[in-house]
Amino acid sequence: MNYTLLTFSPTGQSKACALAVAKATKQEFIEVDVTHFLQRKKPLAFFNTTLIVAFPVYGGRVPRLFAEYIKEQVTCTNCNALAIASFGNRAFEDALVEMEDLLLAKGMPLIGAASIGCQHSYSDKVGSKRPDIEDFQILDRLAVYLNGKTKTVHPPGNRPYKSSMLIADPPYMPTIKGKGGTPNSHCYAVCPTGSLAKGDPSLCIHCCACIQVSNNELVMDSPKFVNVTKHLEETCQKRVDSALYLP
Ligand SMILES: Cc1cc2nc3c(=O)[nH]c(=O)nc-3n(C[C@H](O)[C@H](O)[C@H](O)COP(=O)(O)O)c2cc1C
Repeated sequence: MNYTLLTFSPTGQSKACALAVAKATKQEFIEVDVTHFLQRKKPLAFFNTTLIVAFPVYGGRVPRLFAEYIKEQVTCTNCNALAIASFGNRAFEDALVEMEDLLLAKGMPLIGAASIGCQHSYSDKVGSKRPDIEDFQILDRLAVYLNGKTKTVHPPGNRPYKSSMLIADPPYMPTIKGKGGTPNSHCYAVCPTGSLAKGDPSLCIHCCACIQVSNNELVMDSPKFVNVTKHLEETCQKRVDSALYLP
């Protein structure tokens, strides 16, 4: 069986984790990234492969867009999967069990899972400089373990899952700093929903991808976002370790 990466990764950390595992297996692999809305227009069918599924934790859950994509557009034959949840040093809560259920519904049992501490998309002061050497050692251990294994694992988490993140009311999106500027083209390219190009805050998932590549041209100045970020910076300084879940 070869490996296929299936990633949803607005700010790139989940994808970096999946690539670290795939490269450490020293086997061939294929990359499929469905972060951008154009990549989520098409269905995907997988055959005879181990999927390495990596995604960020949003509000202790799988990002809604990724969950819907798997539910509606993914099929598989003779596959199993690894799930990697990258989280911003707060908690991953029910994200891994939710992913286990999404994959099982497609006939893909989980043969391994990991929760990997990363920098929080909202602030470089939360989970700073992660994933770091210790986090990558965990991913290496996952790759070494893999080698032909097929036993099923059940990661931690609760069913029913915690409620999904509330939809912002009123909706908000990043704004341009200063007067009359336009964000650089990279900001539009990384937006997973097209919200920035359409100027439609109701599509914005607050992933912060555009802000991170904007060279300080964009800022999320909604008081709600500013308060949540401040709270995270105050309460999520203590390192939450990465972990592996193997049979
Ligand atoms: C909308 C949103 C919600 C988030 N919720 C959580 C959370 O519940 N727990 C946590 O530890 N990190 C949370 N994070 C941080 C991300 O899970 C983390 O930064 C992740 O590594 C980003 O992955 P990416 O680089 O692949 O986009 C959240 C980030 C965003 C944008």
